[in-house]
Amino acid sequence: MQVIEKKQELIDLVKNFKKEGKKIGLVPTMGALHEGHISLVEKCVKDNDICIASIFVNPTQFNNKKDLDTYPRDIEKDVNNLKSAKCDYIFTPSVEEIYPEEDTRIFDFGYLDTVMEGANRPGHFNGVGQIVSKLFEIIQPNNAYFGMKDFQQVAVINKLVEIIKSDVNIVKCPIIREVDGLAKSSRNQLLTDKHRKNAPHIYATLTKAFKFAPEKSVHEVKEWVINEINNNPFLEVEYFEIIDDTELTPVTDWNNNEGIVGCITIQAGNVRLIDNITFK
Ligand code: PAJ
Repeated sequence: MQVIEKKQELIDLVKNFKKEGKKIGLVPTMGALHEGHISLVEKCVKDNDICIASIFVNPTQFNNKKDLDTYPRDIEKDVNNLKSAKCDYIFTPSVEEIYPEEDTRIFDFGYLDTVMEGANRPGHFNGVGQIVSKLFEIIQPNNAYFGMKDFQQVAVINKLVEIIKSDVNIVKCPIIREVDGLAKSSRNQLLTDKHRKNAPHIYATLTKAFKFAPEKSVHEVKEWVINEINNNPFLEVEYFEIIDDTELTPVTDWNNNEGIVGCITIQAGNVRLIDNITFK
């Protein structure tokens, strides 16, 4: 496995792989890797001749400077984990390497960027679009791997592919959880002991809601989940939306839509946690 910091080096390398007809897979990450990220890498290794993982804490997608400053970083551990997962290359560019000048591109993700994470983190998805489009441009992957934990991000990436007319195939990967049900996240390590102990209540509530959902209205399920979580003094719901899984529009009736997902964001002390459950 090789660590590459310069984009030109990677562009040259990829050009040769392409000439040899090799299939290239990309796993974009911001590092502080856990089993969730590694599951994407393992799938990427299996599906492609060459697996490239990027580690870049992308400043343009952080709308909160403190969140950027406290974002966990552990490059040595990440490199070891990626080596164990048989990743071929790690791309770890500097901010100057990716943004030699300010990226002023604005992507029109339409409705997708106006709800949930889009509404609560203005500019976040535009920043995601900036970095992911740059990575696609440099690496020209055949396949790119994204986790369903960030459900809305996957919808935005699919839209991005349309906007930039890329032919990369977007592969959606399932959510990997801790044994107590909490979705694995780099931010979990920032939780205080008390918040960490209470955080599994999020997924426990979502799975309970899943079980009784068919007997209750969408509105009742939504209210119940919000109240149930807000009754826990360590957790505060930022939003819980029950939505159509492609357009992300609110669902009012379980029978009206093909795919229905409940997306939630919680504030647990100073840490924002995100999760979702597929109802249908
Ligand atoms: P990051 O939060 O590091 O996540 C990288 C990828 O890992 C994302 O596709 C995310 O959905 C996936 N992932 C994280 N936790 C997961 C879990 N528990 N189970 C399955 N997949 C999981 O998402 C980003 O970085 C950035 O926005 C990025 C796309 C890299 C652009 O900067």
